[in-house]
Amino acid sequence: MSVTAAADPTFAVTNRLPEAALTALRGAGELRIDERSEAIPRLDLLALVEGADAVLTLLHDRVDEELLEAAGPRLRCVANVAVGYDNVDVAAAAARGIVVTNTPGVLDDATADLTMALILAATRRLVEGDRLIRAGRPWTWGMSFMLGSGLRGKLLGIVGLGGIGRRVAERARAFGMEIAYHSRHPAPDEIAAELEAERLPLEELLARADILSLHCPLTPETHHLIGEAALASMKPTAVLVNAARGPVVDERALAAALAAGEIAAAGLDVYEREPRVESALLELENVVLSPHLGSATVETRTAMAELAARNAISVLRGEGPLTPVPSQ
Ligand code: DGY
Repeated sequence: MSVTAAADPTFAVTNRLPEAALTALRGAGELRIDERSEAIPRLDLLALVEGADAVLTLLHDRVDEELLEAAGPRLRCVANVAVGYDNVDVAAAAARGIVVTNTPGVLDDATADLTMALILAATRRLVEGDRLIRAGRPWTWGMSFMLGSGLRGKLLGIVGLGGIGRRVAERARAFGMEIAYHSRHPAPDEIAAELEAERLPLEELLARADILSLHCPLTPETHHLIGEAALASMKPTAVLVNAARGPVVDERALAAALAAGEIAAAGLDVYEREPRVESALLELENVVLSPHLGSATVETRTAMAELAARNAISVLRGEGPLTPVPSQ
């Protein structure tokens, strides 16, 4: 009887990843990669995944029934190179026995750092000041010139006290802030105690927070969680920061609230229709905008890609996923 050796598995990678991850994948099978650094067009994506055993995707690659069908019956793992996985139809994948993984943990510090940068930039009007200087507008040190607000003693309201939310809370404690949070489940006692964090209903958190920072996943429940009514219930001095997912905030309602002085300022790293940004926001001085940079450090992107690669390899070896998405 002749034994046919199993063909090497094929890993389809939708974007250029850090070399360490590609090296690991090459060592475990065939690598099929789209080398573009921008998002892969849909038709190219569907062609790329055809016949693959595992696919490594980025957060803007939509993994739905159409893609799973295009990939075909060999597909066993979708390894999303992101902690968020709202781009993946997890139920459709599960129905086909396909494992979905994400990259929790490794980006917590980088995203928390960026969140603090947005908090500081928004409260201290840093980008507005930069624009003023670059525009060559006259200025001089003055007692009431470009005043912002301090952080000590202020209440940071965190929506979603997962890994990133906790790291933000730790940093905010070092700035002398008080912490309150809203999440579906209470934080473990030792974490709540360490952060001295009080769990509040969303309505109360909105009404009391000086800074409201969003760190929840995008789900049908959190879509437009911060809309007209929520914004109207916040303090006129409050600052909203979103480094989670754009559609958690109703961007048009936010622009209107910022223009009307219903809240004082905002810092955004993510957008409802990314990479497009609501044009009304671009006209406002009291919003700081960054282009989805939460995890954008060399170290973090390398760790994310390596974890995704290890997930895909481990699933194909039959050893199970290292970090399956929680809802499986
Ligand atoms: C993620 O991993 O979900 C982040 O948004 C990437 O920056």
